[in-house]
Amino acid sequence: PNEPPIVPYWIPIIGSAITMGLDPIKFYRKYQQEYGNYFTFILLGRRMVTCLGSEGNNFVFNAKLADASAEAAYKSLTVPVFGKGVVYDVHNSVLMEQKKFVKSGLSNENLRAYVPMIEMETRNYFSRWDKRTDIQDVHKATAELIIMTASKCLLGDEVRSKLDESFAQIFHDLDGGFKPINFLFDDLPLPSNKLRDQAHVKMRHFFMDIMKDRRDKGITDRTDIMQYLTTNCQYKDGRKLSDEESAHIMIAMLMAGQHTSSTTTAWALLYLASQPNLFDELRKEQIEVFGSLDEPLTFDGIKKLTLHDNVVRETLRLRPPIFNVIRKVLRDLPIPGTQYVIPKDSYIQSILAISHRSEDYFENAEIFSPNRWVDFDQNNKERDDDLVDYGFGVLHSASAKSPFLPFGAGRHRCIGEPFAYIQIKTIIAVFVRMFDLALHENKFPECDFTTMIVQPKNPLVQYTKRDN
Ligand code: HEM
Repeated sequence: PNEPPIVPYWIPIIGSAITMGLDPIKFYRKYQQEYGNYFTFILLGRRMVTCLGSEGNNFVFNAKLADASAEAAYKSLTVPVFGKGVVYDVHNSVLMEQKKFVKSGLSNENLRAYVPMIEMETRNYFSRWDKRTDIQDVHKATAELIIMTASKCLLGDEVRSKLDESFAQIFHDLDGGFKPINFLFDDLPLPSNKLRDQAHVKMRHFFMDIMKDRRDKGITDRTDIMQYLTTNCQYKDGRKLSDEESAHIMIAMLMAGQHTSSTTTAWALLYLASQPNLFDELRKEQIEVFGSLDEPLTFDGIKKLTLHDNVVRETLRLRPPIFNVIRKVLRDLPIPGTQYVIPKDSYIQSILAISHRSEDYFENAEIFSPNRWVDFDQNNKERDDDLVDYGFGVLHSASAKSPFLPFGAGRHRCIGEPFAYIQIKTIIAVFVRMFDLALHENKFPECDFTTMIVQPKNPLVQYTKRDN
């Protein structure tokens, strides 16, 4: 069959891993120019068919279940971390039901309760930046803060209260199993995988003990996801979600939300530090919505902060934390509109950052410019019937043809988006009330592409405390 062109490489087996790994954006752009939107490169013996542009995104995100599988691509990485019976360890129809449970648990009513919690956690956290001015690692700070806010809101007070002791270590060990090598190989006998497996068992028991304790004490008034999963969830066939499944879903949520949200928040603050005039504009917007910078933040107020939204969106455009979305091809698969047929057992991948940075869709695409979204929204309201209002401010396209898909599309689309927005916007809102920020030595950090989620290298900032 006529398969997509293969990027030439010199070292068998390793293939293009090295040139691709150094600067993936440059790599994909170069071959897009040479071959068009579809081409294959060899990654440690695997055929990775790259599908670019909005049509490539659509091909990957809307692939039929019988043609391409997310679970076959992600299983070796995720099942040992999340556990059995959830997400990619079950048939897609079960995952769909589990996603509905979580989506309903992240109701507007619960999100409303989360805003004051996130505000308090953020204030407490940054009160330790107590000099008038100093240099800090902004990503270290957001990683620590996001696990606090996410635990407090989603996992519950019991987990949050253990964060400074046992839970942090368990999380650290489990997280150590979440690395690219485990995507490529099934269960390697690495020390980090042994720690991962022990941590998984500990975390499951930790959550299940809390569930039992709440049941014994008759606690039913919480707004966290544990509460929702353990009381309200029943599959279509009548079976109730077991405590073990609930615990595994909570682990999956923790993992799905931690690095994505913490890197996005870090990059957002770095971009703001590179354009410090935005700090005044953000404060001005808050004064318009809340009356003053001393008023407590509320869900309804946060929803109205359009510039804050646009800062987050623009960050997600330039630094989508999930860099590539992958499926395994289950049978020979023709690419519509081309002569190509992708051989069975290849992988197809969509690289979001490429359409996000394409001049075809975004003028001056390399520049951080939150206000571009004002026009974008206006144009899209007229054009795109698939826009979904999640009730937290921005309208987002649910169409896989959109060039902007930081949360994916189709059946695997993210259900954490409303929570992520509320969380990141609230943190930014508190931060700009407390500080001004500049880049350390005026340097904007480069990307570290070697981790699962693209992180900033050496992300130092110089903060200056505001007088309040
Ligand atoms: C799926 C991005 C936060 C839970 C996805 C996908 C993307 C994504 C791109 C699609 C993956 C694929 O198609 O293979 C993000 C970003 C986040 C974020 C950029 C934050 C800035 C969260 C949070 C949660 C979460 C906070 C949980 C509360 C999930 C779940 C899926 C998902 C359950 C579904 C996986 C599937 O159906 O296969 N996310 N996510 N995400 N995300 Fe998120």
